[in-house]
Amino acid sequence: MPSKYSSLPQHGRISLAEDSESEAAMMVNAGFEKQDRYSRPARHQIAGVIHWIAHGVSVILIIGLILIEVSRKSMPAGALRASGLTVWTPAKEYLGDVSHMSVFQNSFWQYSPYKGPPTEQVIARWDHLTHTGPLNLTAEEMAKLGHSLDAVQYPPEFGGGYIGYLESAHQIHCLYALWEDHHFRTHPELFPNFAMKLRTQPNITEWHFEHCVDVLRNRLMCTADDQIVTFRWVKGVSGPYPYFNTKHECRDYEALLEWDEERRADKNMLEGYKWPVPEDAVKLTHAP
Ligand SMILES: *[C@@H]1O[C@H](CO)[C@@H](O)[C@H](O)[C@H]1NC(C)=O
Ligand SMILES: *[C@@H]1O[C@H](CO)[C@@H](O)[C@H](O)[C@H]1NC(C)=O
Repeated sequence: MPSKYSSLPQHGRISLAEDSESEAAMMVNAGFEKQDRYSRPARHQIAGVIHWIAHGVSVILIIGLILIEVSRKSMPAGALRASGLTVWTPAKEYLGDVSHMSVFQNSFWQYSPYKGPPTEQVIARWDHLTHTGPLNLTAEEMAKLGHSLDAVQYPPEFGGGYIGYLESAHQIHCLYALWEDHHFRTHPELFPNFAMKLRTQPNITEWHFEHCVDVLRNRLMCTADDQIVTFRWVKGVSGPYPYFNTKHECRDYEALLEWDEERRADKNMLEGYKWPVPEDAVKLTHAP
């Protein structure tokens, strides 16, 4: 008994079940054959062209990848830094590259003069880091920094110049604010200013806390640290122990403080100073 599907497999049709369908299938297949027969020479030519285009594209891709790899390997370590993304600042111009290699002493149980429990001495160390400004900047420096010349200036009787503070001092101040917020709970007597702010301006103090977390998050993400924390086996410790003493290229913070000192306006004359709004002051409509 001849299979009603006997002719189907050779056309590559294997799943049609009904007579009418198999008939339709055969017609379709016949149609393909016909089309195939008539278009063979044209298809061969097109296939040939596509074949060589594909070869050409492959060769270009391979050469491109080799060139990228070679240029990546020969790129100096400072290439990223030399990407033209440097932002000008007066401190950078004055200090130049004062970076040095430093291995962080970040071991979990490591002593640090900035760690609690809080004492007058520890607080004095933090004070030293944030003992900065106000700076006295020229109009030329303001313009190079990209700051508006409508910014606040010292009044003429103090000699003029634009007021500014180092961002690093602001950021360390923020880190200290978090440290202070924590230690105030157990040592309120060591933080009288914070106690007063908490009592008289609870809302601002709360917003200041969140502001500071965000300032530090921004800064840490901006200079996202791509060093790698590895792990060691330690006697008496059951699991892998993190090795936080990573190597870094660091700014010379003390040199920055020295530059700041040199460029300061007289802080004493500004102590308790009530800034008068100049008649021609250009005011922003919203807090920046
Ligand atoms: C700022 O510096 C200028 C000189 O560049 C000086 O004349 C002026 O008195 C200084 N202003 C203050 C407030 O220290
Ligand atoms: C705190 O200050 C913010 C911003 O001015 C305000 O939206 C909010 O209502 C204040 N909250 C309290 C409890 O005063």
